Amino acid sequence: MCGIVGYIGDQKAEPILMNGLRCLEYRGYDSAGLAFLYKGDFQIARAKGKLSELEQKIQDKNFPATIGIGHTRWATHGKPDEINAHPHFSKDVVLVHNGIIENYRELKSRLLENKHQIVSETDTEIICHLIQDHLDQGKEFESALHAALAELHGAFSLVILHRADPETIYTARMGSPLVVGQKQGESFVASDIPALLAHTNDVAYLHDGEMAVLSRNGIRFTDFKGNVVEKEFNRITWTAAQAEKSGYKHFMLKEIHEQPRVLADTLMGRVHRDTLDVDLAEANELLKQIAHNDRAQIQIIACGTSWHAGLVGKYWIENLAKIPVSVDLSSEFRYRQPLVNDNTLVVAISQSGETADTLAAIRESKQRGAKVLSICNVLESSIPRESDQTVYTLAGPEIGVASTKAFTTQMAVLYMIAVKLAFYGEHLEKSEAADRIQALLELPNVMKSFLRKGMASLDSIVEKIYQQEHCYFLGRGMQFPIMLEGALKLKEISYVHAEGYAGGEMKHGPIALIEEGIPVVASAIRDDLYEKMISNVQEIKARGAMVFALVSEGDEDLADQFDDVIAIPKTHADLNPFLTTLPLQLLAYHVADRKGTDVDQPRNLAKSVTVE
Ligand code: G6P
Repeated sequence: MCGIVGYIGDQKAEPILMNGLRCLEYRGYDSAGLAFLYKGDFQIARAKGKLSELEQKIQDKNFPATIGIGHTRWATHGKPDEINAHPHFSKDVVLVHNGIIENYRELKSRLLENKHQIVSETDTEIICHLIQDHLDQGKEFESALHAALAELHGAFSLVILHRADPETIYTARMGSPLVVGQKQGESFVASDIPALLAHTNDVAYLHDGEMAVLSRNGIRFTDFKGNVVEKEFNRITWTAAQAEKSGYKHFMLKEIHEQPRVLADTLMGRVHRDTLDVDLAEANELLKQIAHNDRAQIQIIACGTSWHAGLVGKYWIENLAKIPVSVDLSSEFRYRQPLVNDNTLVVAISQSGETADTLAAIRESKQRGAKVLSICNVLESSIPRESDQTVYTLAGPEIGVASTKAFTTQMAVLYMIAVKLAFYGEHLEKSEAADRIQALLELPNVMKSFLRKGMASLDSIVEKIYQQEHCYFLGRGMQFPIMLEGALKLKEISYVHAEGYAGGEMKHGPIALIEEGIPVVASAIRDDLYEKMISNVQEIKARGAMVFALVSEGDEDLADQFDDVIAIPKTHADLNPFLTTLPLQLLAYHVADRKGTDVDQPRNLAKSVTVE
């Protein structure tokens, strides 16, 4: 989720690249760097931290070059320090990268055997040396690049300079975005449109498997073998502010739509279709110990939305791996003398990695002898630093205060943990796991088409809810925590009072609140508890509630029983929570937008809560 830029033309590249990076800083701010090609040499400047650190570092330096590349990093492999900052380089190649190279370990060992000096922990540096390796074998630059691209597995967008060629910038895209623009005598490339808008409104998007070769005289497009690709330029009419959000009105909406891609990133390199296995790298060993311990228990701790992900995780881990799981709010856990010990694996979930209560709960658990595995979105933040192991969600920076893409990627990591524990505990044969793994890998595409197709009745539901004071969300089983999350989203950003309840619990009190016209959102998808849920909903309906139901695709004819329905696409039953989350996020978003509240920065809330 990094930001990358490149420029070749007749002006000094440095201010153009720095301005471009400023527009992309929302994509990552762990470190930043620039590389120029001047009189046959690379000039490189890199700094840990935000772009302002780089700015300070270069303020007394002069970079006269008219060709250069730049990067702002959201760390995935390797901690966010200067050595791991981009651009990375070998003798003749310097490049910036956005994405993840899945097979970098194999490539790295081969390159080390060939005596390449690799200094960082990144997957990116491997790409420089891979191209260099082909150059050292006597290939021309473009053939060396094609040969290297053919060996990379994973997602990448690359912007590359070759020491011997001050007239060209090479770019390639597979899975991570890249867009180019041109003007008389100048060419530009960036990972997102905002970085180009100061120079041109005419842009061309690279598709997967395509390269753009930029010179002062124009841009040539090819595939990864050098065959010419015809490409049209499109005119962008967004303002710079709109462009930062990729044309979406708010970051939250952008982040909702990013979920298919960040989910795919989070699964990439971890879920293997060929071996039907899940690989959580260093966390594997911790999971193996727990799965092989008869007295093992798992304790999940988290706050807010992350706690809801933990509640869903309990169903998966208990169902698949048969290990008892407790889920606590960090702020409660830390003060309740918890009975955790050296048979306990504590799973701490946090988007920011800085939540004070979760951090304190981790310290409390460690003192009592438990091992801690964290699920986190921010590399090298406090929670991973204090945990025994961390599995990162690769959601990229989440800017909207109401968490969306962090939630679904946290669920993805929890599901992978459940499957891995089940394998180690021999509760799931690989052959039995096949349909689950298959469905998990297909999930990003199912989510993408669900979001793209839109939800026909959403607008009408929004109209019926936005002026209400109260709204209830009902679900059973795994849908219960999803409904808690749906209610939290609505109250956080639209200030409509919303409560999530377990369907079976309504008649123990909350049904007293149901009166004519009260809106209730209910999950009535075809899972094990479908019949029971339908009975619960009928009890509510009989008391006059206005019921909006999430139903399984094919059940749209239930529409006459409810006030409106949203059809949820089919997937493996375990994975329904990912899909039922989407309409609830969109519902909260559109209700808030309809009311005109500050969606991305709701009143009284903070993105990262570092105080108790
Ligand atoms: C804040 C945020 C929530 C988030 C919670 C936990 O309240 O507004 O969106 O779910 O903190 O944060 P964490 O970073 O630990 O997941």
